[in-house]
Amino acid sequence: MEKKDWYLEISTQVLSVDVNHIGDFLFEEPEKSFLGNWDLRLSPDSHHAANLLQAVRKLQTSDLPVAFPTETVYGLGAGATRGEAIAGIYKAKQRPADNPLIVHISSLTQLRQLFNLSPGLDKTPLDGFSHDPIPAIYHSVISRFWPGPLTVLLRLPKPSPLAPSVTAGLPTFGVRMPSSRLALALIHLAGFPVAAPSANASTRPSPTTAAHVLHDLSGRIELIIDGGPCQVGVESTVVDGLVDPPVVLRPGGVSIEMLSQCPGWEHVVVGYRDGVETGVPRAPGMKYKHYSPTARVILVHGKLNIQLLTKYLRGCKKAGIATTKTWRVEDLAASGASITQRAAETGRALCCSIVQHGTLDAMHSNANNGGPRRTLMATHGYERVADGEDSDTVHVVATDLGTSPVTIAQKLFSALRELDMHGVDVIFVEGIGADEGLTAAAVMNRLRKAAELEIQS
Ligand code: TXA
Ligand code: MG
Repeated sequence: MEKKDWYLEISTQVLSVDVNHIGDFLFEEPEKSFLGNWDLRLSPDSHHAANLLQAVRKLQTSDLPVAFPTETVYGLGAGATRGEAIAGIYKAKQRPADNPLIVHISSLTQLRQLFNLSPGLDKTPLDGFSHDPIPAIYHSVISRFWPGPLTVLLRLPKPSPLAPSVTAGLPTFGVRMPSSRLALALIHLAGFPVAAPSANASTRPSPTTAAHVLHDLSGRIELIIDGGPCQVGVESTVVDGLVDPPVVLRPGGVSIEMLSQCPGWEHVVVGYRDGVETGVPRAPGMKYKHYSPTARVILVHGKLNIQLLTKYLRGCKKAGIATTKTWRVEDLAASGASITQRAAETGRALCCSIVQHGTLDAMHSNANNGGPRRTLMATHGYERVADGEDSDTVHVVATDLGTSPVTIAQKLFSALRELDMHGVDVIFVEGIGADEGLTAAAVMNRLRKAAELEIQS
C-alpha cells in the first residue's frame, strides 16, 4: 500500500466566528483603547464564543497551527514561545526555515512581558520610562498605527522567551498588534503572543478568506476560524526603525506618506525592490517566489490591446483578465473587429465569459458578506464555444478589481486565486501607478512578485 504523508490524515474543520457576538470588550481608563489595558467578557451562551474558545485551546495545547483572520490577510498562528507549534507552521506551509515570522500581540503589556524580566516594567506607559524595551523611535508610529497593519522590528530580548525558529536565527523580531477584533480576542484569550505568517501554502497568494486557507491547507491543519473576508487584503507594512534613517522593508497597509508624517520618520526610506530581487534581501521573505497562482501572470501597462495580448496566448485554452483603472470588459467587444480578423487569420475565436469578482468565494465561504453573486456570461458577439468543444478557442474570464487602490488591494489575491480556479493558463493584470502612494505601491509590489513578465501595451 502507498505510504501516506502525515498531514493527509488530518481533517480540517472550519468554524465561523462573528466577533460581534462573542461578548463585550472592556477598556480601562485612561487610554480606553487596545493600546491600554483591556479585557473581554465572553457571552456564556454564544456559539461564536464557544468556537473561538476551541481555537484558543488548540493554540494552548496543540502542535498544529490555527488559521485565523486579521484585518490584512488570514494568519497561521501558534504560540510564539512554543517551539513545537512553531515548527508546525513551517511544516504546514512548507515555508523555508530562514524566513522569520511576525509576532502578533493583543496589548503593549503583552509585548513588554516578553522583555519583562523585572516586575513593574510591564505597566510602563508608552511615553514613559527611558528603559522601555520599545525604542522611542517607535512611539509615534505605534500610537498612530496600532492596532493596525504595521509591523516593527525590535531587538530580541536576552534571554529570549520566543522560540528561536520564530526569528529564523536573526537578532531582531517583527511584531504587530492587529486591528481585527477577532484576532485581538484570540490572542488575548490565549494569554501569549501568537506568531503567524500568512496562512497560504508557501509561494501562493496570501489568503483573504477562510475558503482560500482551506484550499491551500486542507489536510494540513485542524482548524480554520472563518471571520469573513479581510478588509485590507494585502499584508502589513514592515518597518525597521533600529537603523537611521528608518526603512520600509515591505510596503503594505500603512503607506510611506503616512509614516513620514510621524515624528522621527520624516526621512524614512524605501528598503524594498519590486520585481526580481538581487543581492541580499533585508527582509528574508523578499527573496522567495511569492503570491503566485498556478497560471502565469503578465502585468500590463497601457490600453487593453487584445491583439497584443493574443501574442501571449499560444497554446492557451483559457485566459484571465483582471481589470483595474481603465480596462473595461466591454472593450473586448469594442475590439471585436480586430479579433474577428485575427480569428480568421489564425482560425482561433475568442470567447469571452465575464465572471464577476467573488463568484467562487461565495460558493466556498459561508461568511461572505456580499450575499449571492451573479455570474454573467456574455459572448460579446463572438462565437460562443463551450469548454472543450473547439480546441482552437481561447476562453477569456474577466474579473474587475475596481478602480481605487484600496479596492484593488482588497480583491487582488482573491482574484488571482479565483482565476486559477477557472483553470486559466495565463492572467493579464492591468497595472496601476506605484507612485500613486497609499496602497498602490503595495499592490504593485505584490503584482511584480507574482508576475513573470511586465509589458507595455
Ligand atoms: O499582515 C501581515 O503581516 C500578515 C498577517 C497574518 O499579520 N502576516 C504576514 O506574515 O504577512 P508573513 O510571514 O507572510 O510575512 C512576514 C514578513 C516576511 O517578509 C519576513 O521576512 C518579514 O516579515 N520579517 C519578519 N521578521 C523579520 C525580521 N526580524 N527582520 C526582517 N524581516 C522580517
Ligand atoms: Mg506571506
